[in-house]
Amino acid sequence: MLRRYSDRGLTMTSDNSIESTMHESRTFDPPESDGNEPWHCSSLEQYRALYRRSIDDPAGFWAEAAGELHWFKPWDKVLSYSPPDARWFAGGTTNLCYNCVDRHVEQGFGDQIGIIWEGEPIGSDGPEVRTLSYAELQQHTARFANVLRKHGVKKGDVVTLYMGMVPELAIAVLACARIGAVHSVIFGGFSSRAIADRVHDASSRIIVTCDGAWRRGKVVPLKDNVDEAIKMLDEVRVDSVIVCKRCENTVQWDATRDHWWNEQMESVDTDCPCEPIEAEDMSFLLYTSGSTGKPKGIIHTTGGYMVYTATTAKYVFNLIPDQNQVFWCTADIGWITGHSYILYGIMPNRVPTLMYEGAPNHPGPDRFWDIVERHKVTQFYTAPTAIRAFMKWGDEHPKKHDLSSLRVLGTVGEPINPEAWMWYHTNIGKEQCPIVDTYWQTETGGHMITPLPGATPTKPGSCTLPFFGIDAAIVDINGIEAGPNEGGLLVIRKPWPGMLRGIFGDRERFIETYWSTVKVDGEPVYTAGDGARRDEDGYFWIMGRIDDVINVSGHRLGTMEVESALVSHSAVVEAAVVGMPHEIKGTGIAAFCTLASGVGADNALRSQLCEHVASEIGAIAKPDVIRFTDALPKTRSGKIMRRLLRSIAAGETEVKQDTSTLEDFSVVAKLQGADES
Ligand code: WTA
Repeated sequence: MLRRYSDRGLTMTSDNSIESTMHESRTFDPPESDGNEPWHCSSLEQYRALYRRSIDDPAGFWAEAAGELHWFKPWDKVLSYSPPDARWFAGGTTNLCYNCVDRHVEQGFGDQIGIIWEGEPIGSDGPEVRTLSYAELQQHTARFANVLRKHGVKKGDVVTLYMGMVPELAIAVLACARIGAVHSVIFGGFSSRAIADRVHDASSRIIVTCDGAWRRGKVVPLKDNVDEAIKMLDEVRVDSVIVCKRCENTVQWDATRDHWWNEQMESVDTDCPCEPIEAEDMSFLLYTSGSTGKPKGIIHTTGGYMVYTATTAKYVFNLIPDQNQVFWCTADIGWITGHSYILYGIMPNRVPTLMYEGAPNHPGPDRFWDIVERHKVTQFYTAPTAIRAFMKWGDEHPKKHDLSSLRVLGTVGEPINPEAWMWYHTNIGKEQCPIVDTYWQTETGGHMITPLPGATPTKPGSCTLPFFGIDAAIVDINGIEAGPNEGGLLVIRKPWPGMLRGIFGDRERFIETYWSTVKVDGEPVYTAGDGARRDEDGYFWIMGRIDDVINVSGHRLGTMEVESALVSHSAVVEAAVVGMPHEIKGTGIAAFCTLASGVGADNALRSQLCEHVASEIGAIAKPDVIRFTDALPKTRSGKIMRRLLRSIAAGETEVKQDTSTLEDFSVVAKLQGADES
């Protein structure tokens, strides 16, 4: 477990410098195209030429990419940039839903399948499968857009979506896009407190939810969570809750506010043309964790985001219409991966996108491979944490299924350890499928550093080379570029179309978080918050977050959020949370707590605290280990020594770091001896 962690080269030598230790010499050449399905980019030379052009002439490059999509009115100017503010395709109007759905109908492809959906429960005649053609999607999204309008939603209003992975979620997202409403999707695993915070921050007056969601054979009571959240809100009034029936789960009903999805859909007509939306109008908010405070609402706009996600999806997954491709991304639409690569990036490419409702191991550990086989999935996109779980469950499960339809495999969300990469390559790709390890973030909208499947030789554990238009570099705190294999901060020096445009309601935090860490040639540059190095071939190796954000099973959490949740429990006086190596999750959560006097430090309290964190944030934030201690190690200025806690959490028996600034040396000894769950 530990070894794997250090395999990543995740060694922090001081707060600002990062030592890299990982070396990987295996290289895998991209497979040649089989003729029927050419690679959009089929050699490293071609990639380099296109990349060069995208950097030398971004306006020309992106105008061409944008020209593949539909615009109601062409833009006046491709890019204007005054850091940190970029405007892409300003003056142009377009519509995300039109490009995902209506355009295909207009072009005569209305009967083709846009979305394939599979439910989690398996009945006597197999799982429930629904397919939605573009024509059907056009009708459903138009109807739901009319429902939203009926409830007073106008362009620019924020609609909160807290739903399971059902087709209605995709319909609701696209319906918002149809009329220029801003969606804020909240992952169904978050708690009522998390819903209340997000609804409040966005002043959202309408919530779309489900009676419940299926997860591992159990029902998650989504509507109950929404009811609870509404009770917690005092300033924002939620006028309407629209409830989609999925689980026949009994729900409380407030007739003045609650409405059934089906009844609403029947009460409106199907005529609702897509509104022309300004390229720089907000398309959605998506809340994500940062190092301080509450989750922040990342703002994405319309034109640039659309062009960027559609272009990355096309090249990185080699999407080609009319080739019997079926694209499957296993993420939840509640995360950016689902926004960009279940819906917005995939659908304009006219390749069916598969949505699966449930867990990877329900009813058995081969569920994913069963889905790949039955739907003949051609591109499969998942997270390293899932791959590590598959490894643990055993090779026999993928072996039971015919996976020969697969062409491209992808990963996202956290660094992939070479062992998991090799397992994926061998057991799923049968050594035939290129692996695209895609590095990106909620803020970046789409892939930033990634192989192109027909062009880039891959090395297990490296996300390889930047996508077109991405001027990525590794620099030190003074903005000086690092030499080969020297660790540093990952920055992006030029704007790109999919970049975030701000944090909702917090301009200062936007500038502070992303644009204040380093300057290059006197200009602020986008700082991603990750440590990385480039090897002698220019390949990028992401070493992990350098702030207080942790990637738990590929899900992003702020250590501060978990700390606030812990101290909101009456037994806890002070808490410090750090990441620790975890075999499946990649990073687990270790919490060090000091307790109120008279409180018993026992396992009963540990479980209580875990439940408390789950109810404050969601089950994904439950600590893996809680350690009780008399005091936390602090510097003379009172800062918690997180590095030290990290190494203690990682199970190091002796403290190797310089502890000379420790206020109370005995704290270290006590912590190391502290009993652990
Ligand atoms: C991490 C997910 C290494 C990284 C799309 C980043 C990765 C954070 C990779 C963003 C990868 C994502 N290799 N690390 N291929 N992909 N990350 O916003 O730390 O949920 O900053 O976006 O995940 O997480 P987010």
